[in-house]
Amino acid sequence: MTARIAGQLAIVTGASSGIGEAIARRLGSEGTNLVLWARRGERLACLAEEIADQSGVSVDTGVVDVRDREAVQGEAARLMSELGTPDILVNNAGLAAGMAPVHDADVDDWDRMIDTNVKGLLHVTRAFLPAMVERDSGQVVNIGSITGRQVYPGSTVYAASKYAVQAITEGTNLDLLGTGVRVSGVHPGLVETEFSLVRFKGDEDRAGAVYKGIEPLTGADVADVVSYVLNAPPRINVADVVVFAKAQGSVHHILRDEG
Ligand SMILES: NC(=O)c1ccc[n+]([C@@H]2O[C@H](COP(=O)([O-])OP(=O)(O)OC[C@H]3O[C@@H](n4cnc5c(N)ncnc54)[C@H](OP(=O)(O)O)[C@@H]3O)[C@@H](O)[C@H]2O)c1
Repeated sequence: MTARIAGQLAIVTGASSGIGEAIARRLGSEGTNLVLWARRGERLACLAEEIADQSGVSVDTGVVDVRDREAVQGEAARLMSELGTPDILVNNAGLAAGMAPVHDADVDDWDRMIDTNVKGLLHVTRAFLPAMVERDSGQVVNIGSITGRQVYPGSTVYAASKYAVQAITEGTNLDLLGTGVRVSGVHPGLVETEFSLVRFKGDEDRAGAVYKGIEPLTGADVADVVSYVLNAPPRINVADVVVFAKAQGSVHHILRDEG
């Protein structure tokens, strides 16, 4: 069966690894033309070539730091003048930095998280949403986190940034009532990606321990959910989805096989 989103144009931020890369692959396999953004241009170029070869869709890339409002606006304007208004925006770029308690944390880590996860998501949304509203159609998927619902020790500012994503998703949906534009939040639990390696600044042992003894979600699992959300008929908005590995019950309940 042809996917409902075949032939549409999707922009995916944070497409150079993990969940964003998996979403790009999944949407490409469904016939969606793509624009992929991240800071690591070489990775994006390789991925774009692979997806275009495999799926025959067009894949454009942009080396964009979502924290840089002017760069986001400039690149968005370039691509809309060349390719038109995107049908789909997946706000996925994001990170956690460190796990120190608030009284001991590196304030630069806070800036990185808030500037990327909150302000970056807002910059990208603000760059594309007016054109979607004017056309009266479009879908935005914000990748939040279960940490936007439940805080665990060492996650205070990361959680705050993801609680903000939750508020932005809900609020934008309210703002868009009466238009043809839908906004959805997808909130994963533990997913094995480069997330923990980034959080622990390249410490592979610490990063590996996060996923030890459980079968975590993969980026492809989250991409399946995003595909479901995006392929829903226009009369339906899948507003909010939480997705866990079976071994996870909450941020505090993770069943690990200690054997
Ligand atoms: N993994 C999990 O357990 C988990 C759980 C819940 C939610 N999430 C969320 O899922 C999203 C994707 O994370 P992931 O797990 O796939 O981690 P990842 O493998 O580290 O991927 C993060 C992506 O975000 C991009 N990115 C980071 N900062 C950026 C910036 N300033 N400008 C542009 N792109 C930027 C990275 O690309 P460059 O470095 O090339 O820029 C990369 O493509 C994040 O929002 C994260 O909070 C992850």
